[in-house]
Parts: sequence; structure tokens; C-alpha cells
Amino acid sequence: MSEFRVRKAHPIATEITVPGDKSISHRAIMFASLADGTSEITGFLPSGDCLSTAAAFRAMGVAIDFLNEDGSPWQPAASGAGPHRVIVQGRGLRLQAPAGPVDCGNSGTTMRLLAGILSGQNFTTVMTGDESLSKRPMKRVTEPLSLMGARFEATGPKETPPLTVHGHSALRAITYPLPMASAQVKSAILLAGLYAEGKTTVIEPAVTRNHTETMLRHFGVKTVRQGLAISIYGGQVPESRDFHVPGDISSAAFWLVAAAVQPGSELVIKGVGLNETRTGILKVLLRMGAQITEDIREGADGEPCGTLTIRGGGLRGTVIAGDEIPNVIDELPILAVAGALAHGTTLIRDAQELRVKETDRIAAVVENLQRFGVAVRELPDGMEITGSGGQALVGAKVTSFGDHRIAMACAIAGLFSEGESVISDVDCVGTSYPGFAEHLRLFQSRHVTGSTTPVIDRLPSSLSDPT
Ligand code: S3P
Repeated sequence: MSEFRVRKAHPIATEITVPGDKSISHRAIMFASLADGTSEITGFLPSGDCLSTAAAFRAMGVAIDFLNEDGSPWQPAASGAGPHRVIVQGRGLRLQAPAGPVDCGNSGTTMRLLAGILSGQNFTTVMTGDESLSKRPMKRVTEPLSLMGARFEATGPKETPPLTVHGHSALRAITYPLPMASAQVKSAILLAGLYAEGKTTVIEPAVTRNHTETMLRHFGVKTVRQGLAISIYGGQVPESRDFHVPGDISSAAFWLVAAAVQPGSELVIKGVGLNETRTGILKVLLRMGAQITEDIREGADGEPCGTLTIRGGGLRGTVIAGDEIPNVIDELPILAVAGALAHGTTLIRDAQELRVKETDRIAAVVENLQRFGVAVRELPDGMEITGSGGQALVGAKVTSFGDHRIAMACAIAGLFSEGESVISDVDCVGTSYPGFAEHLRLFQSRHVTGSTTPVIDRLPSSLSDPT
């Protein structure tokens, strides 16, 4: 099991790109697989989670080729370098029964969105996952999808995976108010809606990431939003399209915070996704006193993308709560680190969904920040953090709890701590950010060389070894 050893960093002055967006990469493979022809995907994130999605569709008869620039087959690399392009030969809406169980690995997005797609197939599928995914709630998708006519058996304790889906080739359309703000559940129902007769409507309690709606539109499928209600008509078959996946703002988030907390830092991140249902972190950091400029270009594929420039300053505490939460849900661990280094108190509320992520992220963040010497109080739906006012934290030994975002958030805390910090069990970062270790080393090397002169490093988007 590998670990990160992290020391204090100097101010950052650099330019980077981050790997492809995880949510968008999953959907690009899914929608291209359901399309009626060949699609080419560029910018695909070659992370464990997204490769689980690709393997699942391959197992269901979809031809997916990962290629290097010269057309040779791509293989996963330790550097995190991704394929130049992914060619998907879609089967239309009808998939082929897999020969055995479909392994979703660590990926909740794979299992939940697939549950919607498999609901409309005329065969039965068993989906399994790793230890973490096997503890995650699936009732949130099986309940609405059962109303549409699919049948499920979740054989783990408390209706957790393994999950058997008995598809039904003529689903019923439903109108479903979501009990929680979840893009995965919304997407599962909308995807099942493709197989239903008539209009399926999902009503969100608060706006969640809208990649499913945006990308379905790009693939020629119409969805309609009216306030918090999103509707889809069944029977529409996605049309094959090429698609470019922008950089993942949830991966950029670690470097955004690393730059924001440090006066004198200036960081430029290029080619990053700037979909407004994902950029809550920018609003929070602005409120905390960071200087950020966004240069947004509307991507031809419907997903806004552009350049972010962030300048560090002394941050102040803030309140993150209510409808803002779904917009920053994956960034809350790293925002908690920002709060730990800010002046004053940061309060995170209404974030009970964090308890059912890859690990209980409220408990994990609270325990680890305490080890870094931070005064933090656990709340049922969040936490209250007393910031250090810009003072360094105390170097600590912590575990990731097998959760990629906890591992990376703690590595950033280590950059702002006295002495060495050790974060153990960090292989999990490969589920969302292969190449993170190389980027971390780059930020560390400023310390190792003792350089305080701003240096512009241009990392190739392939994330090959920056040295
Ligand atoms: C995701 C939605 C969110 C997010 C997850 C990816 C998606 O989960 O936390 O990392 O791709 O739809 P929920 O829908 O459970 O909030």
C-alpha cells in the first residue's frame, strides 16, 4: 500500500492542466455506447472508475478502443497519461447480456447510472463492487426504477450491493421527486426514461450537476428543464457524436486551494470544465477572499471549458450550506482544508450526503484535521472548523480511509504543515486522478530546491512525467 510523504511548500507560480472530468468521462462512454454509430472521445480520464465503466460496456457487447496518437493500442501508465482518443461503436439502446457479473470497482456513478440503463434491457445482470462500493446505498435508485417496472435484489446488508437487475423491455414513465439532491439518481431515472413509454420527470430538491442533460442533448436526445423538474421522452435513440472531455474541476480543486491559501501564489489552470453546476468551489473561494478569474469558452460539445487564474491571499472563514452543497459536494474535503488555514470559523452544514460517499467523509475529514492540529467539531450534517489564521498546521500521519478525495485533501494539508506529513493508503487516488503524485511532486520540488522565484511549468495535458 503506497503513501504520500509531504513537506511544506513554497508559494506556487505555475501553469497546469488537470486530467479529464470523471463525471463527464463516465457519461461519454455510456452515451456513446447507447448511440447508433461510432463516436470518438478525446480527453477521456483513464481513472479506475472510468475504466470500470468502459469494461462494463465492453462486457455488454460494445466495442471500445483506447488508442495512442499513432493509432497503437493505449495501455494504462503509472504517469496517468491517458489515451489520445477512445473509439466507441455504439449498439443503440439495446445491449448484450454480459457473460458474468459486471464489476463496478469503486465507482458509485458506474453502478447507479448502469442500474438505470440495465432496467430497460431484456436480460438480468449482477453488478458487484469493491469493499467501499459494497457499503453504499442503492435503494435510492432501486426504489424509483422499481416503480418504472424493473426488479432488483440487493443482497448486501441494508440493501447494498451486489445488485441484481432484472430488466424490463417496456418500462413505465414516472414523475419522481428526488428525496436527496443526487445527480447519480437523477441520471439513473432519466436513462431509464429512454426505455419508457411517454414522459419521465425527475424533480430535484436543489440543482445538481447537469452533465447528463447537457450531454444527452449533444448526442441528439432532448430533455426539458422547467425549474427543478427535468423531463425526457422515451424512445429517443442517442446519435453518435464526437466528444471532448474537459479537465476535471474537482481535480483542479486541490491546486486551487493550495494556491488560494498561500499569499504570493499564482496558478493558471487551462482546459478545465467550468459548467456552472460544478463551479461552486470558485464562489466559495471568492467569498473566502481568493482572487480568481475565469475565462470561459463554451465548448462545442455543450460543456463550458476555459482557463482559471487564482491568486492567493489570506483566506477568511465562510458558511457553506443549503442549495450550494450539491454544487461543491466532492470539493468539501479540500474546502475543509481551506477553512482550516483561513482566519475565523468555517461552517459546513446540510452535507449529510458526505456520510455515504466512498467513506464517511465527515468523520474522515474531522479525524484527520484533528491530527493536523486543527480545532474542528463534527456535526451530524457537516463540521465547524476554527482556522489557523494562515499559520502552518502540524505535520501528521493520517490514513485516506481508502478514499481518493481524503487522500488528496490531506496531501494538500501536508503542504501547509510544519515537518513531514504521511498519508497512507493512497493507491485509491487512481480512481479519479491518476498522475496526482507527479503533480504533488512538482509543487514539492519548489520546496526541495528552495526556489522562491516564480517558475512557469507547463505540464502536458497527457500528464507525462513533468521532470
Ligand atoms: C456524480 C454525482 C455525485 C458526486 C459523484 C459523481 C455524478 O454523487 O459526488 O462523485 O457523476 O453524477 P451523488 O449523485 O451521489 O451526489
